[in-house]
Amino acid sequence: MSRTIIRARLLSFSRAPEHPDDTESFHYIEDGALEIEGGLIRSMGEFSTLDAGGAEVIDHRPHLVMPGFVDTHLHFPQTQVIASWAAELLDWLNDYTFPEETRYADPELCAQMAARFLDRLTDHGTTTAVAYASVHAASAEALFTEAHARNMRLITGKVMMDRNAPEALCDTAQTSFDESAALIARWHGRERLGYAITPRFAITSSPAQMEAAQALAQAHPDCHIQTHLSENHAEIALACQLYPQAKDYTDIYARYGLLRANSLLGHAIHLSDRERAALAEADAKPVFCPTSNLYLGSGLFDDARLRAGGLTNAIATDIGGGTSYSMLQTLAEGYKVLQLQGQRMHPYRAFDWITRGNAEALGLAARIGTLEPGSEADLVVLDARATPAMAQRMERARGLVDELFTLQVMGDDRAVVQTYITGTPAKGAH
Ligand code: GUN
Ligand code: ZN
Repeated sequence: MSRTIIRARLLSFSRAPEHPDDTESFHYIEDGALEIEGGLIRSMGEFSTLDAGGAEVIDHRPHLVMPGFVDTHLHFPQTQVIASWAAELLDWLNDYTFPEETRYADPELCAQMAARFLDRLTDHGTTTAVAYASVHAASAEALFTEAHARNMRLITGKVMMDRNAPEALCDTAQTSFDESAALIARWHGRERLGYAITPRFAITSSPAQMEAAQALAQAHPDCHIQTHLSENHAEIALACQLYPQAKDYTDIYARYGLLRANSLLGHAIHLSDRERAALAEADAKPVFCPTSNLYLGSGLFDDARLRAGGLTNAIATDIGGGTSYSMLQTLAEGYKVLQLQGQRMHPYRAFDWITRGNAEALGLAARIGTLEPGSEADLVVLDARATPAMAQRMERARGLVDELFTLQVMGDDRAVVQTYITGTPAKGAH
Protein backbone atom coordinates (compact mmCIF):
# COMPACT_ATOMS: atom_id res chain seq x y z
CA MET A 1 0.00 0.00 0.00
CA SER A 2 1.54 3.33 -0.98
CA ARG A 3 2.31 5.79 1.77
CA THR A 4 2.18 9.54 1.16
CA ILE A 5 3.18 12.40 3.42
CA ILE A 6 1.57 15.79 2.99
CA ARG A 7 3.69 18.57 4.45
CA ALA A 8 1.77 21.79 5.17
CA ARG A 9 0.24 23.90 7.85
CA LEU A 10 -2.50 21.65 9.27
CA LEU A 11 -5.79 22.65 10.89
CA SER A 12 -8.37 20.23 12.27
CA PHE A 13 -11.15 20.80 14.80
CA SER A 14 -11.84 18.14 17.42
CA ARG A 15 -15.01 19.73 18.81
CA ALA A 16 -17.17 22.81 18.29
CA PRO A 17 -15.39 25.94 19.53
CA GLU A 18 -17.30 27.42 22.47
CA HIS A 19 -15.98 30.99 22.21
CA PRO A 20 -13.51 33.03 20.12
CA ASP A 21 -10.58 32.15 22.41
CA ASP A 22 -11.30 28.43 22.41
CA THR A 23 -7.96 27.36 20.96
CA GLU A 24 -8.35 23.97 22.68
CA SER A 25 -11.03 23.01 20.16
CA PHE A 26 -8.56 22.42 17.31
CA HIS A 27 -5.12 21.19 16.35
CA TYR A 28 -2.99 23.65 14.41
CA ILE A 29 0.47 22.57 13.34
CA GLU A 30 2.70 25.15 11.65
CA ASP A 31 5.01 22.63 9.96
CA GLY A 32 2.81 19.59 9.92
CA ALA A 33 2.93 16.14 8.38
CA LEU A 34 -0.12 14.16 7.43
CA GLU A 35 0.65 10.51 6.78
CA ILE A 36 -1.76 8.84 4.36
CA GLU A 37 -1.99 5.14 3.55
CA GLY A 38 -4.72 3.22 1.76
CA GLY A 39 -6.87 6.36 1.49
CA LEU A 40 -6.89 6.88 5.26
CA ILE A 41 -5.03 9.28 7.52
CA ARG A 42 -2.50 7.27 9.54
CA SER A 43 -1.04 10.09 11.60
CA MET A 44 -1.03 13.86 12.01
CA GLY A 45 1.96 15.52 13.66
CA GLU A 46 5.04 17.67 13.41
CA PHE A 47 7.01 17.14 10.22
CA SER A 48 10.29 17.18 12.16
CA THR A 49 9.33 14.15 14.25
CA LEU A 50 8.08 12.02 11.37
CA ASP A 51 10.18 9.30 9.80
CA ALA A 52 9.27 9.77 6.14
CA GLY A 53 11.09 6.57 5.20
CA GLY A 54 10.63 5.98 1.49
CA ALA A 55 7.26 7.74 1.37
CA GLU A 56 6.48 10.33 -1.26
CA VAL A 57 6.40 13.79 0.36
CA ILE A 58 4.07 16.38 -1.18
CA ASP A 59 4.99 19.83 0.07
CA HIS A 60 2.03 22.21 0.21
CA ARG A 61 3.75 24.87 2.34
CA PRO A 62 2.88 27.70 2.87
CA HIS A 63 -0.73 26.66 2.28
CA LEU A 64 -3.21 25.44 4.86
CA VAL A 65 -4.53 21.89 4.75
CA MET A 66 -7.89 21.14 6.32
CA PRO A 67 -10.45 18.34 6.07
CA GLY A 68 -12.47 18.62 2.84
CA PHE A 69 -15.68 20.63 3.02
CA VAL A 70 -19.05 18.97 3.57
CA ASP A 71 -22.11 20.36 1.73
CA THR A 72 -25.29 19.05 3.37
CA HIS A 73 -27.93 20.28 0.89
CA LEU A 74 -27.80 20.94 -2.84
CA HIS A 75 -29.58 19.90 -6.02
CA PHE A 76 -27.80 17.92 -8.76
CA PRO A 77 -30.25 18.92 -11.56
CA GLN A 78 -30.07 22.64 -10.76
CA THR A 79 -26.56 23.54 -11.91
CA GLN A 80 -28.03 25.41 -14.87
CA VAL A 81 -30.72 27.33 -12.98
CA ILE A 82 -28.29 29.22 -10.77
CA ALA A 83 -28.88 32.94 -11.45
CA SER A 84 -32.48 32.61 -12.73
CA TRP A 85 -34.53 35.77 -12.37
CA ALA A 86 -37.53 35.09 -10.12
CA ALA A 87 -39.54 36.91 -7.51
CA GLU A 88 -39.55 34.17 -4.87
CA LEU A 89 -39.40 30.43 -4.20
CA LEU A 90 -42.65 29.17 -5.75
CA ASP A 91 -42.21 31.28 -8.95
CA TRP A 92 -38.60 30.18 -9.19
CA LEU A 93 -39.62 26.52 -8.91
CA ASN A 94 -42.45 26.76 -11.43
CA ASP A 95 -40.80 29.04 -13.97
CA TYR A 96 -37.23 27.73 -14.04
CA THR A 97 -36.48 24.79 -11.80
CA PHE A 98 -39.23 22.34 -12.67
CA PRO A 99 -38.81 22.86 -16.45
CA GLU A 100 -35.04 22.35 -16.09
CA GLU A 101 -35.45 19.18 -14.01
CA THR A 102 -37.60 17.58 -16.75
CA ARG A 103 -34.43 17.35 -18.87
CA TYR A 104 -33.08 14.76 -16.44
CA ALA A 105 -35.40 12.13 -17.90
CA ASP A 106 -32.51 11.55 -20.31
CA PRO A 107 -29.97 9.13 -18.79
CA GLU A 108 -27.24 10.32 -21.13
CA LEU A 109 -27.68 13.92 -19.98
CA CYS A 110 -27.66 12.65 -16.37
CA ALA A 111 -24.34 10.89 -16.89
CA GLN A 112 -22.71 13.95 -18.46
CA MET A 113 -24.05 16.30 -15.84
CA ALA A 114 -23.08 13.98 -12.96
CA ALA A 115 -19.43 14.24 -14.00
CA ARG A 116 -19.66 18.01 -14.33
CA PHE A 117 -21.47 18.32 -10.99
CA LEU A 118 -18.77 16.38 -9.13
CA ASP A 119 -16.07 18.40 -10.93
CA ARG A 120 -17.64 21.61 -9.63
CA LEU A 121 -17.69 20.24 -6.08
CA THR A 122 -14.02 19.25 -6.16
CA ASP A 123 -13.08 22.60 -7.75
CA HIS A 124 -14.58 24.26 -4.69
CA GLY A 125 -13.02 21.97 -2.07
CA THR A 126 -16.18 20.01 -1.30
CA THR A 127 -15.45 16.34 -0.74
CA THR A 128 -18.78 15.11 0.69
CA ALA A 129 -22.18 16.18 -0.56
CA VAL A 130 -25.80 15.44 0.24
CA ALA A 131 -27.63 16.06 -3.02
CA TYR A 132 -31.18 15.89 -4.29
CA ALA A 133 -31.39 14.11 -7.64
CA SER A 134 -34.41 14.74 -9.89
CA VAL A 135 -37.61 12.66 -9.80
CA HIS A 136 -36.05 10.30 -12.32
CA ALA A 137 -34.41 7.21 -10.84
CA ALA A 138 -31.85 7.46 -13.66
CA SER A 139 -30.59 10.77 -12.27
CA ALA A 140 -29.77 9.23 -8.87
CA GLU A 141 -28.32 6.19 -10.61
CA ALA A 142 -26.02 8.41 -12.71
CA LEU A 143 -24.84 10.41 -9.72
CA PHE A 144 -24.12 7.29 -7.65
CA THR A 145 -22.28 5.72 -10.59
CA GLU A 146 -20.03 8.76 -11.10
CA ALA A 147 -19.31 9.23 -7.38
CA HIS A 148 -18.52 5.53 -7.09
CA ALA A 149 -16.07 5.75 -10.00
CA ARG A 150 -14.31 8.63 -8.19
CA ASN A 151 -14.55 7.02 -4.75
CA MET A 152 -16.29 10.20 -3.53
CA ARG A 153 -18.45 10.22 -0.43
CA LEU A 154 -21.97 11.08 -1.54
CA ILE A 155 -25.49 10.83 -0.19
CA THR A 156 -28.32 11.28 -2.67
CA GLY A 157 -31.83 10.15 -3.46
CA LYS A 158 -34.39 10.38 -6.16
CA VAL A 159 -36.92 13.11 -5.42
CA MET A 160 -40.42 11.87 -4.58
CA MET A 161 -43.07 14.25 -5.99
CA ASP A 162 -46.54 13.33 -7.23
CA ARG A 163 -48.49 16.60 -7.41
CA ASN A 164 -48.31 20.38 -7.93
CA ALA A 165 -45.63 20.01 -10.57
CA PRO A 166 -45.56 19.41 -14.35
CA GLU A 167 -46.87 16.00 -15.37
CA ALA A 168 -43.44 15.00 -16.66
CA LEU A 169 -41.97 15.49 -13.19
CA CYS A 170 -44.57 13.53 -11.25
CA ASP A 171 -44.16 9.96 -10.07
CA THR A 172 -46.81 8.18 -7.98
CA ALA A 173 -46.81 7.00 -4.40
CA GLN A 174 -46.20 3.44 -5.62
CA THR A 175 -43.51 4.18 -8.24
CA SER A 176 -41.68 6.50 -5.87
CA PHE A 177 -41.65 3.74 -3.26
CA ASP A 178 -40.52 1.06 -5.70
CA GLU A 179 -37.82 3.15 -7.35
CA SER A 180 -36.45 4.46 -4.06
CA ALA A 181 -36.38 0.93 -2.61
CA ALA A 182 -34.51 -0.37 -5.67
CA LEU A 183 -31.94 2.44 -5.43
CA ILE A 184 -31.47 1.77 -1.72
CA ALA A 185 -30.90 -1.93 -2.38
CA ARG A 186 -28.38 -1.15 -5.09
CA TRP A 187 -26.42 1.74 -3.58
CA HIS A 188 -27.02 2.40 0.13
CA GLY A 189 -23.95 1.54 2.21
CA ARG A 190 -21.92 0.58 -0.84
CA GLU A 191 -18.41 1.84 -0.13
CA ARG A 192 -18.74 5.61 0.42
CA LEU A 193 -22.32 6.00 -0.78
CA GLY A 194 -25.53 6.48 1.16
CA TYR A 195 -29.17 6.94 0.28
CA ALA A 196 -31.40 9.80 1.39
CA ILE A 197 -35.15 9.23 1.22
CA THR A 198 -36.21 12.43 -0.55
CA PRO A 199 -39.84 13.63 -0.47
CA ARG A 200 -39.20 17.06 -2.05
CA PHE A 201 -41.54 18.98 0.29
CA ALA A 202 -45.09 18.66 1.58
CA ILE A 203 -46.49 20.70 -1.32
CA THR A 204 -45.38 18.22 -3.99
CA SER A 205 -46.22 15.02 -2.09
CA SER A 206 -49.76 13.71 -1.60
CA PRO A 207 -50.68 12.06 1.70
CA ALA A 208 -50.36 8.68 -0.04
CA GLN A 209 -46.81 9.53 -1.08
CA MET A 210 -45.95 10.73 2.41
CA GLU A 211 -47.09 7.30 3.62
CA ALA A 212 -44.75 5.72 1.07
CA ALA A 213 -41.89 7.88 2.40
CA GLN A 214 -42.82 6.81 5.93
CA ALA A 215 -42.72 3.14 4.96
CA LEU A 216 -39.28 3.60 3.38
CA ALA A 217 -38.05 5.47 6.45
CA GLN A 218 -39.28 2.72 8.78
CA ALA A 219 -37.73 -0.02 6.69
CA HIS A 220 -34.39 1.83 6.43
CA PRO A 221 -33.59 3.57 9.72
CA ASP A 222 -30.00 4.20 8.66
CA CYS A 223 -30.95 6.04 5.46
CA HIS A 224 -30.97 9.80 5.72
CA ILE A 225 -34.21 11.65 5.04
CA GLN A 226 -34.06 15.03 3.29
CA THR A 227 -36.79 17.54 2.60
CA HIS A 228 -37.54 21.27 2.72
CA LEU A 229 -39.23 23.01 5.63
CA SER A 230 -40.48 26.53 6.29
CA GLU A 231 -38.57 28.41 3.62
CA ASN A 232 -40.97 31.26 2.87
CA HIS A 233 -44.41 32.48 3.86
CA ALA A 234 -46.32 31.53 0.68
CA GLU A 235 -44.84 28.02 0.82
CA ILE A 236 -45.79 27.60 4.48
CA ALA A 237 -49.37 28.77 3.84
CA LEU A 238 -49.81 26.36 0.92
CA ALA A 239 -48.28 23.41 2.79
CA CYS A 240 -50.58 24.00 5.78
CA GLN A 241 -53.61 24.38 3.49
CA LEU A 242 -52.79 21.03 1.87
CA TYR A 243 -52.47 19.30 5.27
CA PRO A 244 -55.23 20.94 7.35
CA GLN A 245 -55.03 18.29 10.10
CA ALA A 246 -51.42 19.19 10.90
CA LYS A 247 -50.68 21.67 13.71
CA ASP A 248 -48.11 23.44 11.54
CA TYR A 249 -45.63 22.72 8.72
CA THR A 250 -43.24 20.76 10.95
CA ASP A 251 -46.11 18.61 12.18
CA ILE A 252 -46.81 17.44 8.60
CA TYR A 253 -43.46 15.68 8.55
CA ALA A 254 -43.82 14.50 12.15
CA ARG A 255 -47.15 12.84 11.35
CA TYR A 256 -45.47 10.75 8.68
CA GLY A 257 -42.53 9.70 10.85
CA LEU A 258 -40.06 11.79 8.87
CA LEU A 259 -38.39 13.59 11.78
CA ARG A 260 -35.46 11.76 13.33
CA ALA A 261 -31.74 12.28 13.98
CA ASN A 262 -30.74 11.64 10.38
CA SER A 263 -33.41 13.95 8.91
CA LEU A 264 -32.04 17.02 7.11
CA LEU A 265 -34.50 19.90 6.89
CA GLY A 266 -33.50 22.47 4.33
CA HIS A 267 -34.06 26.13 5.36
CA ALA A 268 -36.14 25.84 8.58
CA ILE A 269 -36.45 29.63 8.75
CA HIS A 270 -39.91 30.70 9.97
CA LEU A 271 -40.49 28.31 12.86
CA SER A 272 -42.66 28.69 15.93
CA ASP A 273 -41.42 27.69 19.38
CA ARG A 274 -43.55 24.58 19.12
CA GLU A 275 -41.91 23.61 15.85
CA ARG A 276 -38.40 24.21 17.21
CA ALA A 277 -39.21 22.03 20.21
CA ALA A 278 -40.60 19.26 17.99
CA LEU A 279 -37.46 19.31 15.85
CA ALA A 280 -35.24 19.27 18.95
CA GLU A 281 -37.21 16.37 20.43
CA ALA A 282 -36.53 14.36 17.27
CA ASP A 283 -32.90 15.62 17.06
CA ALA A 284 -33.62 16.47 13.40
CA LYS A 285 -31.09 18.71 11.67
CA PRO A 286 -32.05 22.15 10.31
CA VAL A 287 -29.90 23.14 7.34
CA PHE A 288 -28.91 26.79 6.92
CA CYS A 289 -28.67 27.75 3.22
CA PRO A 290 -27.58 31.40 3.32
CA THR A 291 -26.86 32.20 -0.33
CA SER A 292 -30.22 30.69 -1.31
CA ASN A 293 -32.15 32.40 1.47
CA LEU A 294 -30.78 35.80 0.46
CA TYR A 295 -31.10 35.18 -3.27
CA LEU A 296 -34.75 34.08 -3.10
CA GLY A 297 -35.50 36.60 -0.35
CA SER A 298 -36.76 33.77 1.84
CA GLY A 299 -35.75 35.05 5.27
CA LEU A 300 -33.07 34.97 7.96
CA PHE A 301 -32.12 31.65 9.55
CA ASP A 302 -32.08 32.04 13.33
CA ASP A 303 -29.01 29.99 14.20
CA ALA A 304 -28.74 31.16 17.81
CA ARG A 305 -32.34 30.42 18.65
CA LEU A 306 -32.24 26.94 17.18
CA ARG A 307 -29.01 26.15 18.98
CA ALA A 308 -30.36 27.50 22.25
CA GLY A 309 -33.21 25.01 21.78
CA GLY A 310 -30.68 22.16 21.65
CA LEU A 311 -30.58 21.72 17.88
CA THR A 312 -27.51 20.92 15.79
CA ASN A 313 -27.61 23.01 12.63
CA ALA A 314 -25.94 22.08 9.37
CA ILE A 315 -24.92 24.58 6.65
CA ALA A 316 -25.11 24.15 2.89
CA THR A 317 -25.02 25.79 -0.54
CA ASP A 318 -28.49 24.76 -1.85
CA ILE A 319 -27.36 24.99 -5.46
CA GLY A 320 -29.27 26.17 -7.55
CA GLY A 321 -31.45 28.37 -5.29
CA GLY A 322 -28.03 28.96 -3.77
CA THR A 323 -25.68 31.03 -5.86
CA SER A 324 -22.25 29.52 -5.19
CA TYR A 325 -20.79 26.01 -4.91
CA SER A 326 -18.24 27.45 -2.51
CA MET A 327 -18.63 26.62 1.15
CA LEU A 328 -16.38 29.66 1.76
CA GLN A 329 -18.87 31.95 -0.01
CA THR A 330 -21.63 30.17 1.91
CA LEU A 331 -19.86 31.18 5.12
CA ALA A 332 -19.48 34.75 3.85
CA GLU A 333 -23.21 35.10 3.22
CA GLY A 334 -24.03 33.17 6.39
CA TYR A 335 -21.94 35.63 8.36
CA LYS A 336 -24.03 38.50 6.97
CA VAL A 337 -27.34 36.75 7.65
CA LEU A 338 -26.31 36.29 11.26
CA GLN A 339 -24.98 39.87 11.51
CA LEU A 340 -28.43 41.14 10.55
CA GLN A 341 -29.78 39.38 13.64
CA GLY A 342 -27.06 40.54 16.02
CA GLN A 343 -25.38 37.13 15.90
CA ARG A 344 -21.74 36.54 15.04
CA MET A 345 -19.98 33.73 13.25
CA HIS A 346 -16.39 33.53 14.45
CA PRO A 347 -13.97 31.96 11.94
CA TYR A 348 -13.20 29.07 14.31
CA ARG A 349 -16.90 28.22 14.42
CA ALA A 350 -17.20 28.77 10.66
CA PHE A 351 -14.41 26.37 9.70
CA ASP A 352 -15.46 23.81 12.26
CA TRP A 353 -19.01 24.03 10.83
CA ILE A 354 -18.16 23.28 7.17
CA THR A 355 -15.88 20.37 8.17
CA ARG A 356 -16.39 18.48 11.44
CA GLY A 357 -19.69 20.17 12.33
CA ASN A 358 -21.45 19.19 9.12
CA ALA A 359 -19.91 15.72 9.35
CA GLU A 360 -21.35 15.39 12.85
CA ALA A 361 -24.78 16.60 11.66
CA LEU A 362 -24.66 13.77 9.12
CA GLY A 363 -23.56 11.21 11.73
CA LEU A 364 -20.25 10.78 9.88
CA ALA A 365 -17.77 12.53 12.20
CA ALA A 366 -15.86 9.30 12.84
CA ARG A 367 -15.04 9.05 9.13
CA ILE A 368 -14.77 12.55 7.71
CA GLY A 369 -14.49 16.16 8.84
CA THR A 370 -11.22 15.92 10.80
CA LEU A 371 -7.56 15.01 10.23
CA GLU A 372 -7.61 12.48 13.06
CA PRO A 373 -5.87 9.15 12.43
CA GLY A 374 -8.35 6.69 10.94
CA SER A 375 -10.28 9.39 9.08
CA GLU A 376 -10.72 9.16 5.35
CA ALA A 377 -8.10 11.33 3.62
CA ASP A 378 -10.45 13.88 2.06
CA LEU A 379 -8.61 17.19 2.21
CA VAL A 380 -8.64 20.74 0.96
CA VAL A 381 -5.51 22.86 0.42
CA LEU A 382 -6.26 26.55 0.94
CA ASP A 383 -4.41 29.70 -0.13
CA ALA A 384 -5.58 32.86 1.63
CA ARG A 385 -3.52 34.94 -0.85
CA ALA A 386 -5.18 33.45 -3.94
CA THR A 387 -6.34 36.74 -5.49
CA PRO A 388 -4.62 40.15 -5.55
CA ALA A 389 -7.29 41.52 -3.20
CA MET A 390 -6.84 38.65 -0.75
CA ALA A 391 -3.04 38.95 -0.89
CA GLN A 392 -3.31 42.68 -0.19
CA ARG A 393 -5.60 42.05 2.78
CA MET A 394 -3.27 39.34 4.07
CA GLU A 395 -0.35 41.80 4.22
CA ARG A 396 -1.97 43.07 7.42
CA ALA A 397 -3.05 39.68 8.79
CA ARG A 398 -2.15 38.89 12.37
CA GLY A 399 -2.17 35.14 12.71
CA LEU A 400 -4.53 32.28 12.04
CA VAL A 401 -7.80 34.04 12.89
CA ASP A 402 -7.20 36.77 10.31
CA GLU A 403 -6.18 34.21 7.72
CA LEU A 404 -9.31 32.14 8.31
CA PHE A 405 -11.54 35.19 8.28
CA THR A 406 -10.01 36.36 4.98
CA LEU A 407 -10.81 32.94 3.49
CA GLN A 408 -14.29 33.05 5.03
CA VAL A 409 -15.17 36.51 3.71
CA MET A 410 -13.21 36.72 0.43
CA GLY A 411 -12.54 33.09 -0.55
CA ASP A 412 -14.02 30.92 -3.28
CA ASP A 413 -12.71 28.21 -5.63
CA ARG A 414 -9.65 30.35 -6.44
CA ALA A 415 -8.51 29.82 -2.86
CA VAL A 416 -8.70 26.03 -3.29
CA VAL A 417 -5.25 24.95 -4.47
CA GLN A 418 -6.05 21.25 -4.42
CA THR A 419 -8.73 18.86 -3.21
CA TYR A 420 -7.85 15.31 -2.18
CA ILE A 421 -10.33 12.45 -2.30
CA THR A 422 -9.08 9.49 -0.24
CA GLY A 423 -5.54 10.77 -0.57
CA THR A 424 -5.63 11.36 -4.34
CA PRO A 425 -5.55 14.86 -5.92
CA ALA A 426 -8.94 15.42 -7.56
CA LYS A 427 -9.13 19.08 -8.56
CA GLY A 428 -8.81 19.26 -12.34
CA ALA A 429 -8.18 15.50 -12.52
CA HIS A 430 -11.22 14.51 -14.63
N1 GUN B 1 -38.50 23.63 -1.96
C1 GUN B 1 -38.89 22.57 -2.72
N2 GUN B 1 -38.03 22.33 -3.70
C2 GUN B 1 -37.06 23.24 -3.57
C3 GUN B 1 -35.86 23.49 -4.31
O1 GUN B 1 -35.52 22.83 -5.29
N3 GUN B 1 -35.09 24.53 -3.88
C4 GUN B 1 -35.44 25.28 -2.79
N4 GUN B 1 -34.63 26.27 -2.42
N5 GUN B 1 -36.55 25.07 -2.09
C5 GUN B 1 -37.35 24.06 -2.48
ZN1 ZN C 1 -33.09 22.73 -1.65
